[in-house]
Amino acid sequence: MRVGVLTGGGDCPGLNAVIRAVVRTGAAEHGFEFIGFRDGWRGPLEGDTMVLDVQAVRGILPQGGTILGSSRTNPLGEAASAGGMSGLERIKDNLSSLGVDALIAIGGEDTLGVASRLHAAGVNVVGVPKTIDNDLGATDFTFGFDTAVNIAMEAIDRLHTTAESHHRTLVVEVMGRHAGWIALHAGLAGGANVILIPERPFDIGAVCTYIEHRFQDHYAPIVVVAEGAIPAEGTMALATGEIDAFGHVRLGGIGQQIADEIEKRTGKEARTAVLGHIQRGGTPTAYDRVLATRFGLQAIDAAHEGDFGKMVALRGTEIIRVPLAEATDELKVVPVERYAEAEVFFG
Ligand code: F6P
Repeated sequence: MRVGVLTGGGDCPGLNAVIRAVVRTGAAEHGFEFIGFRDGWRGPLEGDTMVLDVQAVRGILPQGGTILGSSRTNPLGEAASAGGMSGLERIKDNLSSLGVDALIAIGGEDTLGVASRLHAAGVNVVGVPKTIDNDLGATDFTFGFDTAVNIAMEAIDRLHTTAESHHRTLVVEVMGRHAGWIALHAGLAGGANVILIPERPFDIGAVCTYIEHRFQDHYAPIVVVAEGAIPAEGTMALATGEIDAFGHVRLGGIGQQIADEIEKRTGKEARTAVLGHIQRGGTPTAYDRVLATRFGLQAIDAAHEGDFGKMVALRGTEIIRVPLAEATDELKVVPVERYAEAEVFFG
């Protein structure tokens, strides 16, 4: 069997661990051949490939990023239509001329949404979930999340000391487009004064009260905010960014807006640190390497068994398979009761 592999969407620590597990197991256990597609869906769309054999995956387990490259190319978008063929038709055409029998697509909701459409159009696809945001509904955890949380926690630990020395508020902006998992976990682990997440529109007045309270205790406040957090209606104006190929707003900047407002309202200095892509970079934690490896092993088993149209997922400690169509149905957001656990420590 000839298996194509691609990584789409934002890069994420652990992608290389999946690729390595897929290629090593597929070659050793089943004698599969592999072909790498470059830069997410752009690869199969344009027939852009690279060699992907056991030699190519040597030494990549601890490497961040993806040796295949990634992009947010959307074959379902109008821009992908060319020569009278839709994006999906071009992909099918390229897969068949390259002799690809099955495709392993590693990505988040957008990449897997395309994978699901391709499967419905008759392509043999297996999906592997990835996102540092941990917001895919069908799996308990995605690899990359643990690494991102640890990076953010370490940053908060370091920012505590400068906040103390200068008696200032430090606002730490972390990733999390629709879900506040990174903010919640990193904020809890780092002892944040308040955590702001997209699921719970915040009241800047209440945030300032927490801050004043923390200063009264002679302890400087750290505010952890997810990039997708939004103010409660009518409480604070918000600037927005441009839109990408999948229709998402490019986020980033809420931290600075909050710091400006805090400074204005409390009269005390407030500064911002935007962690941005630092959270997606560098070597994956042991947890993420193991989860990514187990996903890779299970994805190859699914391909070997001809169990296509599925995404591998973590349920408890087991790796299971769920239909691709269901995998991207619902986002996993932070439940009210999980946020309430963190609220105990606010102020
Ligand atoms: O989905 C993962 C993620 O890191 C989000 O948290 C973030 O909003 C987005 O990707 C940023 O993507 P890009 O690097 O393409 O700007």
